[in-house]
Amino acid sequence: MARRTAKKSGKSVRVGLLGLGTVGRGVVEILTRHRALIAERSGVELTVVRALVRSSRQRRGAAGRVPLTRRAADIVAAADVDVVCELLGGLDPSRRLIEQALRAHKPVVTANKAVLARFGPQLFELARRQGADLYFEGAVAGGLPIIRTLREGLAGDRIKSVMGILNGTTNFILGRIEGGHSYEAALAEAQALGFAEADPRLDVGGGDAADKLAILMHLAFGLHVPSRRISTAGVVGLSPEILRDAAALGCRVKLVALARRHEGTGGGIEAHVQPTLVPLSHPLATVGGADNAVAVESEALGLTLYQGAGAGGLPTGTAVVADLIDVARNLAAGLVGRPGPRLDRAARLLDGGRSAGAYYLRLLVSDRPGVLASITRIFAAQGVSVATIRQERGGARGGVPVAITTHPASTAAVARVMARIGKIAALRAAPNLLRMLT
Ligand SMILES: NC(=O)c1ccc[n+]([C@@H]2O[C@H](COP(=O)([O-])OP(=O)(O)OC[C@H]3O[C@@H](n4cnc5c(N)ncnc54)[C@H](OP(=O)(O)O)[C@@H]3O)[C@@H](O)[C@H]2O)c1
Repeated sequence: MARRTAKKSGKSVRVGLLGLGTVGRGVVEILTRHRALIAERSGVELTVVRALVRSSRQRRGAAGRVPLTRRAADIVAAADVDVVCELLGGLDPSRRLIEQALRAHKPVVTANKAVLARFGPQLFELARRQGADLYFEGAVAGGLPIIRTLREGLAGDRIKSVMGILNGTTNFILGRIEGGHSYEAALAEAQALGFAEADPRLDVGGGDAADKLAILMHLAFGLHVPSRRISTAGVVGLSPEILRDAAALGCRVKLVALARRHEGTGGGIEAHVQPTLVPLSHPLATVGGADNAVAVESEALGLTLYQGAGAGGLPTGTAVVADLIDVARNLAAGLVGRPGPRLDRAARLLDGGRSAGAYYLRLLVSDRPGVLASITRIFAAQGVSVATIRQERGGARGGVPVAITTHPASTAAVARVMARIGKIAALRAAPNLLRMLT
């Protein structure tokens, strides 16, 4: 519910930017290019009065005309800044500066998933106490309006599941491996094109997607868990052979982040980030390049899909500017807008072993009689039903590749299968285990 706050006189709202990197420059570019349009549509004029930088090399394009400062206090504590826009990235000093701005009763717009995934509840509570807005559309899936959708469009609906491709870098890499490139070559190309971070571990290890999933879970289910508690596997080491197997099974491999409500478990939410075989008939299968997509299933509306550019200065800048406009309108009206996402005390993370799914497993084993039989015995002993098993001709290191798919089985049972297979002497390389979306 909107609450009253000190009304901002006049229609001009002054923005202080923390950071003038990729997204910061995108925001300045959009505010400059669409100045008249924004004023006409929203009734407010947004002006960037100052930007915090470490060096002046960010002076490019429209950002070249923004006054710079190296002192954060010139923004978070300045009397001539109405709204603080945090686009530094990382945890520190971002979190501290967001807190300082809120304590000074300044609304904050941020695209910082790392800070929100870890400290979201504390920051939303601080914003509530201070009577200031804290908006974060750019933090998940770049330009896609998924936060707005969950907070507004679906405000009256009950969410059953949220599933998405939340990291464009890994989606790009998977597309290149599908085209026959090695994982290493695909990653190098993503880095050369500027998709991947200089240190890409957060992308390829799944941590970035887990941070975004944590934020979506908070919104969709009122459950806040640190992203390190979300079972997470990345795309490191996936080979063209795995993607070919997926194609033969009528699927494509995607790094899927999934959170799903389990009815009858007293608020249990299943959540994981995993490379997943997605059937070609599913909308997520066709999401190509560095795009993001989120599929939301809710009780009344059913399945809806949001797809587009999940990164980049202008796409993410669009989301940030939309938040700035909302916050500026609230200021002009003397209101505090949407409250932070609520916490549902009954919601809890479902123990990973209690979920179920079908799996694909690829092994490299010694070419000896009886090996295949011993593997199938392990599955049978754990009650995991094998759907298909295929042995190929000789592969790397003198081993024989074996591809197995299962019928839906409990994750705990599949974990026991993996533990036992990991001990068989005939194993020549670490096995690959992927989920299958059914
Ligand atoms: N890029 C995207 O497509 C995208 C998409 C969605 C969300 N986001 C989020 O948006 C935020 C910004 O991302 P970005 O891609 O714009 O990052 P970026 O290009 O690295 O820009 C961040 C800028 O902040 C500056 N900075 C960092 N710490 C600073 C400090 N203590 N004092 C002064 N300046 C400092 C950096 O300066 P130096 O270069 O000197 O370090 C850099 O210019 C992050 O939270 C990111 O997760 C980004």
